[in-house]
Order: sequence, then structure tokens, then C-alpha cells
Amino acid sequence: MAVQISPSILSADFARLAEAAAAVPNADWLHVDVMDNHFVPNLTLGLPVVESLLKATSLPLDCHLMIEDPDRWAPAYAEAGAGSVTIHAEAAKAPVRTLREIRAAGARAGLALNPATPVEPYEDLLGEIDMLLLMTVEPGFGGQRFLDMVLPKIRRSRELIDAHGGRLWLQVDGGVSEHTIERCAEAGADVFVAGNAVYGADDPAHAVDVLRSVAGK
Ligand code: DX5
Ligand code: ZN
Repeated sequence: MAVQISPSILSADFARLAEAAAAVPNADWLHVDVMDNHFVPNLTLGLPVVESLLKATSLPLDCHLMIEDPDRWAPAYAEAGAGSVTIHAEAAKAPVRTLREIRAAGARAGLALNPATPVEPYEDLLGEIDMLLLMTVEPGFGGQRFLDMVLPKIRRSRELIDAHGGRLWLQVDGGVSEHTIERCAEAGADVFVAGNAVYGADDPAHAVDVLRSVAGK
């Protein structure tokens, strides 16, 4: 499937989110990191901000929930109109039910795995999801260094997805830049979240183009 670039507004100016969205018209999705200061040691934004952003941009919102109780909150993001809603395997208590509720509300359902969480125990969930998100840093903050140790898991996940046969996105998130994106693409990822590499650049739209061309090589 074609490469998708999903700039993360975590690295943008939170007082100017509409402008941050408008700065990347060539992006495919806009990545929104929801953090609750419990699942991760950082606090960002929630449903009201997502609802406002939905009115401010036509880019599909790619909502990544780093929260302790995704079963309770995830369906509301899908109902609000998010393009995708991703929950963490480490946090969900009823992932099958929650993923089905996300899909029933019309969003892509995503499952995220932290760097140290293996993919094999979740193989049976592949039929319930539209996207697998592999964290390539410990979740919580932008601007961290890409963890090469996740590359074998990206490869393994690609094999499992191909064997499964469904149309499933494989997303990587954390430390993705023009220097690391090629490794991820070679290993089989096709959706690339980038915070610092896009919003830390002088020209965010140009940064999106660069990422897309390096990933597509
Ligand atoms: C980290 C978030 C990422 C973050 C990535 O927990 O899930 O989406 O914004 O930022 P960079 O690309 O700067 O590592
Ligand atoms: Zn994220």
C-alpha cells in the first residue's frame, strides 16, 4: 500500500494547532497524541481538542491514545470523526470489544505495541484491526532517539500481516526522520509518524515530501 506520512502535532505549537495542520497540506494523516499522565508520564490533549481540530482541518486525524483506560474513551474519538483510533495493547482490558466499537463507529481501528511488547501474543487480533502501530521509542515524548531494536519486530509484523492476508497498515512512531525512515520502510512499515522531523523543520511541508521520497525508495 502507498506510503502514508502522519505528522505528529505533539511537536507543534499547541496554541496554534490549526496552523500546524495547515502547514502540512501534503500529509496523508495528522497524528494526534492523547496522553493522560498515567499510561505515560506526560499530559497533552483530549476529546474537546480533537473535536475542534476536526473542524479546523480536512486531514484525517490519526488518534494515538496513550491512556490508561482506552476501553472507556476510544469509541468516543471514533464517533467524533477521527480517521483512526489506536489503543495500546498494554492498557486495553477488553481490546476485542473496543476495537470492534471503533470500527463500528466508522474509524480505522489501531493496536499499538511499546518497544518491549512482542507482537506474537496479538496475532489473533490482526483480524480485528486496520493498523498495527509499533512504537520505536518509549511513548510519552517527542524528539527521542529511534530504537533500532524494534526493526526485527517490524519485519516479523510485516510477515504476520502478509500471512494474514488482510489489508492492514503497519505504522511506526518515534524517532522517525529522513535518517531512520528508510530502515523502517525496508523492514515493512508503510505509515510513518514524524513529530520533530516535520515540526522541527523550517518548512514542515518540505519535510513531509523528503520523508515520503526517502520512504518510497
Ligand atoms: C511519542 C508519540 C509520538 C511522538 C513522535 O510518545 O507517540 O507520536 O510525537 O515524535 P518524534 O517523531 O519527534 O519522535
Ligand atoms: Zn504517537
